[in-house]
Amino acid sequence: MDEQYVDSLYGADADLERTKAGIAANGMPDISVADGYGRLLTMLVTLSKAQNIVEIGALGGYSGICLARGLPQGGKLVSLELLQSYADVAKVHMKAAGLGDKVEYIVGDAKQSLAELKESGRKFDFFFIDADKEGYPIYLEYAIALAEPGAIIVGDNILLRGRTIDPAKAGPAVRAVRYFNETIASDQRLQSTVLPGYDGLAIAIVK
Ligand code: SAH
Ligand code: DHB
Ligand code: MG
Repeated sequence: MDEQYVDSLYGADADLERTKAGIAANGMPDISVADGYGRLLTMLVTLSKAQNIVEIGALGGYSGICLARGLPQGGKLVSLELLQSYADVAKVHMKAAGLGDKVEYIVGDAKQSLAELKESGRKFDFFFIDADKEGYPIYLEYAIALAEPGAIIVGDNILLRGRTIDPAKAGPAVRAVRYFNETIASDQRLQSTVLPGYDGLAIAIVK
């Protein structure tokens, strides 16, 4: 498999391996972002010189580590997570990776947390959308509303392990992700591309 080959080029990453092991030990699902996309997240944060990131869906902190690694000194990651127990695990892993001082968790339904961030007037220059798939269209609208000009929006799992392109599938997550992908590709407020590797990744710039 091409993805296994490219992953095999990279040596062990102690912080990410500890995080994966901690996720398994806590009985949490093995659904962290793909290794190759984690590396891409770090690169995109670095390249864009982002200083204020919003992550939607923390799980055990794997993508949080990848995002925060790209931040400059003083840069911040706001991570929105439904479950307190997951945010607690993620925080442990961020701290162990030396990134604990860069992250703030907001626990609860991300739709509510995003509404509160919007109300507060805070703006962000990088968004990683990776929570419940039904919420993707709403998360995209909030990201655009909270974005500084030139902000980057990344969305994970836009192929839904084949369900997105299966005409027999039409459940709420599938319909939401199809709508998200169509918006990413056609919305005049965005410049974008969609990568089909792993489980698919959408990348957009807010004009
Ligand atoms: N970004 C993580 C993986 C996230 S998995 C990584 O790559 O490391 C999806 C996460 O979204 C889970 O932790 C789940 O609890 C969370 N989630 C699901 N629905 C949510 C909601 N409505 N609001 C906030 N988080 C939610
Ligand atoms: C799955 C994978 C993810 O990265 C995610 O955010 C949610 C679900 C999955 O494979 O089921
Ligand atoms: Mg994901």
